[in-house]
Amino acid sequence: MLGLAFAAACGTANEQQGATASATRAEDLFAAKCGMCHDFKEDKIGPALAGVQQRWGNDKAKLKSFVRNAQEYIASGDPYAVALYQKWNESAMPSFTGLSEEELDLLIEYLQ
Ligand code: HEC
Repeated sequence: MLGLAFAAACGTANEQQGATASATRAEDLFAAKCGMCHDFKEDKIGPALAGVQQRWGNDKAKLKSFVRNAQEYIASGDPYAVALYQKWNESAMPSFTGLSEEELDLLIEYLQ
């Protein structure tokens, strides 16, 4: 009961902190898992990610399946993913099946 009253009283502050915390978490996740191959502005080992949501038709579910397991996604025959893979000399992304749904969602939100 005490905990509940406390949470209710601090609801607004917690929500704001929550939003900031998840933005930071997304940034940290990206730096830890993706940053060695991706930048937003420049191509590195993988393509620059600026505008990537648009290139994927703003389809977050598709992007999420791709990021979770790029090789499986490419093998499914999606024409955009196949063309991208060929353009990058068939160097594939590692799979990220170890990330939780929540972590994947955070990362996809973080992409622009
Ligand atoms: C070892 C290098 C490597 C790592 C680590 C990596 N990627 Fe990639 N990524 C690539 C390569 C290479 C491609 C392009 C070839 C392909 O599609 O397989 C790519 C393609 C992509 C694309 C599609 C880009 C476009 O222009 O449509 C997205 C989105 C993406 N990566 C997101 C991520 C995210 C998010 C992470 C971290 C969870 C990540 N990548 C980690 C190498 C990497």
